[in-house]
Amino acid sequence: MKALILSGGKGTRLRPITHTSAKQLVPVANKPILFYTIEAVRDAGITDVGIIVGDTHQEIRAACGDGSRWGVKITYIQQEAPLGLAHAVKIAQDFIGDDTFVMYLGDNLIRDGITELVDRFRAEKPNSQILLAHVPNPGAFGVAELDGERIVRLVEKPKEPKSDLALVGVYMFDSTIFEAVNAIKPSWRGELEITDAIQYLVDTGRNVRAHIIKGWWKDTGKREDMLEANRIVLEDLETRIEGEVDAGSVLHGRVSIAKGTRVERSTIRGPVIIGENCVITDAYIGPFTSISDGCVITRCEIEHSIILEECRIEDLGVRMEDSLIGRNSCVRRCDTKPRAYRFMLGESSDVSVL
Ligand code: DAU
Repeated sequence: MKALILSGGKGTRLRPITHTSAKQLVPVANKPILFYTIEAVRDAGITDVGIIVGDTHQEIRAACGDGSRWGVKITYIQQEAPLGLAHAVKIAQDFIGDDTFVMYLGDNLIRDGITELVDRFRAEKPNSQILLAHVPNPGAFGVAELDGERIVRLVEKPKEPKSDLALVGVYMFDSTIFEAVNAIKPSWRGELEITDAIQYLVDTGRNVRAHIIKGWWKDTGKREDMLEANRIVLEDLETRIEGEVDAGSVLHGRVSIAKGTRVERSTIRGPVIIGENCVITDAYIGPFTSISDGCVITRCEIEHSIILEECRIEDLGVRMEDSLIGRNSCVRRCDTKPRAYRFMLGESSDVSVL
């Protein structure tokens, strides 16, 4: 069995962070989302992994390499444009060959992994098995209608959903899916939809089964989803102090501080993870905050936020919350006259001021 991880696409809902970097590499608890996906695939016993890449291929190749770090072999498959999930399957046909495979959307995070789903597919051998979850907002997803455990209908982001069962972004297929992706036509939005391809399997009498998950999962396409995923992953954080914490600082709860980081006269209330080579001075870092490598945080309060590498945050008069700060950004108080806000914001930035 092989795995096909989708890491192309545009990431429009996470702009401006994703103007310059791949959305699948935005970190949750200081680890790129895509790495959780590769680990889940490896833990399910799959070592032959294809990754679909698009415009951000260089960054993804640099981050994942040949996969040896995880004990898997990665093959990169270039998609010339995000022409749909079924298009991604189509261009992976040479890589997959006659094998069965699991397709995993590289921006989805599933707490309990996929081992149970993969084991069940191996045992029952349907043509396809789709991972579903009950959600409060099915219209934002592909939605399934079932007859027992058999899938009878799939609709992509329906206006009037017929059930609350969303497709969770993990799909298992045998090679009949290639017949389907070659038979379907692009949808109204110009994409070859995987929902249409699976519907083709249903309509041609193939065995398409549902597997409903109970644990949490997140499609991390938006800032709120990233922050929630970060919160949920940090719930399981273990305390680990490799950096230096001075006598004037207080750590409460589960806090992880990587090597080369200095914490001075600060209070950190976990769960909080801080990467390597940061300097935290006269600050309060509150629950559910992830700070990546090389950040400098001085005289300010931060809670429930994700700060990417090499940021500088200084002298904020008010606590910063619910924020996602892109790499190498600077947020600071400035007392020069005239008193004014001064911004240098990328396209699609989002700022809330007091
Ligand atoms: O998250 C679950 C949902 O994922 C499902 O409920 C939907 O049925 C499914 O269509 C998908 O919807 P999204 O709107 O979230 O798909 P998105 O465009 O974000 O693409 C998902 C991943 O696949 C993302 O990592 C980018 C990658 N991708 C996407 C397209 C369209 C590719 O690699 N190539 C593509 O052509």
